[in-house]
Amino acid sequence: MHFDTFFGWPQILLIFILLVPFNALRDTCPIGCRCDEDTQQVTCEGQQVVTLPDRLPSGYETLIIRNSSVRTIEKNSFRKMEKLMHIEFENNPSLGTIEKLAFKGLKKIRYLLKIFLKLLESLTFRLIKFSSCPGLTELQKNAFSGIQNQMGLKIIFEKTPIHRIDGHTFRNAQNIRELTISGEELALSRHCFANINQLDFLTVSGVVLIEPEIFTNSTRFHVVHFKNSQFDIPPSTFSSLSHTSHLLLEHTKIPSIAPDAFSGLTTIQVIEIHACQLGTISARAFSNVENLGELKILRNTIGDLDTSESIMSKALKTRMEENTMECNCGMKWMTSVEEMSDVNFCSTTASFRSIRSFIKAKCMDPFRKRNHSPSTTSSGSFLSVLSILTVTVVSFL
Ligand SMILES: *[C@@H]1O[C@H](CO)[C@@H](O)[C@H](O)[C@H]1NC(C)=O
Ligand SMILES: *[C@@H]1O[C@H](CO)[C@@H](O)[C@H](O)[C@H]1NC(C)=O
Repeated sequence: MHFDTFFGWPQILLIFILLVPFNALRDTCPIGCRCDEDTQQVTCEGQQVVTLPDRLPSGYETLIIRNSSVRTIEKNSFRKMEKLMHIEFENNPSLGTIEKLAFKGLKKIRYLLKIFLKLLESLTFRLIKFSSCPGLTELQKNAFSGIQNQMGLKIIFEKTPIHRIDGHTFRNAQNIRELTISGEELALSRHCFANINQLDFLTVSGVVLIEPEIFTNSTRFHVVHFKNSQFDIPPSTFSSLSHTSHLLLEHTKIPSIAPDAFSGLTTIQVIEIHACQLGTISARAFSNVENLGELKILRNTIGDLDTSESIMSKALKTRMEENTMECNCGMKWMTSVEEMSDVNFCSTTASFRSIRSFIKAKCMDPFRKRNHSPSTTSSGSFLSVLSILTVTVVSFL
């Protein structure tokens, strides 16, 4: 009786009316932003946008901040947006600071959803991307810590002139699918990539300084790629990177590679130095790399390579091809390594001839030459004819 009178239709209606505004509030688009229902995307655009939204309508997974006046990404900025999958900062000239733990609270995806998403592999990454943010020049300690991430995370900086990455910027970050940083005059501080548990693809460009121990306590990096940079490689730079499949240095000016520069790498499939300008490769630069599959030194210009120890390693296979060097008689050792002196060349000063032909022409003892057995002489002259031909053809082209 009482029940009936209290919960009659008017009361139910009243409760319903009271609840609606709360739901509506939760689902309104943040002020100054646009919410596109079809793409589930929230876009906050224009100079009048000075802060990040506090929360997003439920179900929305993409947030774009474009042309804004936002200066800082504060600690815990996304704590009420745990489902957010895709965050993009595009053309934000005032953005200068990412506070520590800025992205904390971005949660793991629930287990069943994860299994489902695994099937759609390429769509399942969480993405944090910065493009054209000219004021963002430094990445501070712990800026990318505290992201709970069971699926892959991509962090990408484009046209954003990062000058310095502090130590421990990515501390305890897990399962990073891709980290791409295109910096300008970028200094990599001690421990800048320390304590990262799994990073599939690291690509860094614009580097001018590598401090020692940048990878301390980091494991399971799959591909490490430096390009368009200029730096010396101090000893043990890559130590603690175990189980890296590919280390690639490309289009980079490297005045010196220290002894033991690559020591500490264990179980690596390929170390590749490609199209770089190398100054001195120290003796024993590669010699302490354990379980190295292949060492590739291809299409570089190389200053000093007076000793075979510079490229000595325990690699199962060494490919050293199409490099250009300042030739001198100290390179005689190379003629005793299978074919190497035929596929590497002297610089302009020795008319781009092959190293074997240079050594034969300039560095052989004329008295010993006469004592060669006929077969060696004929194959030797055949080779020199071949290299002269090669040189002629090359200069003709
Ligand atoms: C955003 O900035 C770019 C470059 O400054 C400009 O071309 C574009 O029109 C701006 N968009 C809006 C919506 O203000
Ligand atoms: C590396 O890990 C050890 C053990 O967890 C810890 O004591 C040490 O401080 C870490 N080093 C750095 C540079 O974070």
